[in-house]
Amino acid sequence: MDTTAPFFWGSATASYQCEGAWQEGGKAESMWDRYLHENDLENGDVASDHYHRYREDIETMAKGGQNAYRFSLSWPRIIKNREGEVNEEGIAFYNSLIDTCHEFGVEPFVTIYHWDLPQYWEDEGGWLNEETAHAFEHYARVCFDRFGDRVRYWATFNEPKWFVMSGYLIGNYPPALQDPEKCAHAAFNVMYASALGVKAFRAGGYEGSIGIVHSFGPVDGVDDTLDTKIAMRFADNYANNWILDTAATGELPIDLLTDLNRRFDLSYITPDKLQALREGTVDFLGLNYYSRVLVRPYTDGETQLVVNNSGSAFKGSQRVVIKGWFEQVLDDPNMQTTEWGTEIYPDGLRRGLIEVTRRYHLPIYITENGIGVAEDVSQGEVQDDYRIAFMKDHIAAIKAAQEAGADVRGYFVWSTFDLYSWKNGCRKRYGLVAVDFENGYTRTPKKSYRWYRDFIAGEQTGKPYQEEGQR
Ligand code: BG6
Repeated sequence: MDTTAPFFWGSATASYQCEGAWQEGGKAESMWDRYLHENDLENGDVASDHYHRYREDIETMAKGGQNAYRFSLSWPRIIKNREGEVNEEGIAFYNSLIDTCHEFGVEPFVTIYHWDLPQYWEDEGGWLNEETAHAFEHYARVCFDRFGDRVRYWATFNEPKWFVMSGYLIGNYPPALQDPEKCAHAAFNVMYASALGVKAFRAGGYEGSIGIVHSFGPVDGVDDTLDTKIAMRFADNYANNWILDTAATGELPIDLLTDLNRRFDLSYITPDKLQALREGTVDFLGLNYYSRVLVRPYTDGETQLVVNNSGSAFKGSQRVVIKGWFEQVLDDPNMQTTEWGTEIYPDGLRRGLIEVTRRYHLPIYITENGIGVAEDVSQGEVQDDYRIAFMKDHIAAIKAAQEAGADVRGYFVWSTFDLYSWKNGCRKRYGLVAVDFENGYTRTPKKSYRWYRDFIAGEQTGKPYQEEGQR
């Protein structure tokens, strides 16, 4: 890995959530296009119109002092069909986006898969079909071949846990299944695909480094009892270890496999695939941090997974209970939460980073961190002091972890500008820059954009940024 690279202060997006242009440039249909259209749900057909405005967006990032842009490539924009034919128009779009990053001195930090599976693979069973993993390997190789001369930072997958659990267990994302056995199978195929992608990267001798991005939920327990400790281990396996252990060490957690093997047929986990996992370990970990996972021991009842995608009446409306394993505490009245019920807990990041460092000894990038809020963008600059406070507290947590030995090399705010927030729609805004979805998709930087710009300038000049009044 390049140890001379500067610390990355950037921000992040994902193809489906911002590009729009769902039928332009020879793009094939994605599973999200099909699912949202068929169910008549708010969709990303236009999203933030980044496909047509990426130049303005990257220039705004650069003016804001950001030196890295984390974005994802759209598989159905790049590969036309199951035969693996390349769509040259899609390649041209990303070539131009990558070149624009370099023109403005912004390092492209590229995620290969951020959930927009081509529908032609979903039609064949999606992540339940091992062929999809091999198709991912082909797609990844095309990306390395075509963009590898200008991209030095790659991530195979964004958040396997989140899209696999949501798609196959909770059922609020496509393919909208609620099936624990299929969930385990899809999870394995995704980790296998990631390892195949890493192996292809190494075999091709491409420059740079490759990692995976995980929705990091460090686990805390309500007390120090043995029952809670056991619940914490189950929760850690569920929330973190099947991705981090597998990607970093090449080994799936054996206690998790033991438990799953009692319930399900795992005969698809063959020695050759286990070997591929061992050979496909990553160079770095990308951690997306939104919140910790506070757990208590499982008491009784069936598995319950209820997510709040509406942003109202959150207290007590979310439920995570995995039968026999653990219960997540989401209803503590002392918790500070967002409108969508996500706990705001910066210290989880500090402790989590120290723990991940202790376990894996790998470089880390905070590939997403941010707060989703319903904001009125029609009244000039959004005065998002809450977002500034959120960023400050989380950056302070990272610095404390660095002092304790964590090798953190970058921080990416989610998100660069307002975008489509999956099942929460465009109402849930994370951006440093406001997008007026109702009025021509105009962009207006928020107060947090200015704060981040001044903060980065302070970091880069070695004169740490101080608030007015503290100078
Ligand atoms: C992460 C994803 O899970 O969190 C993003 O990588 C997502 O794609 C972000 O948008 C925030 O989640 P949500 O559901 O509020 O959009």
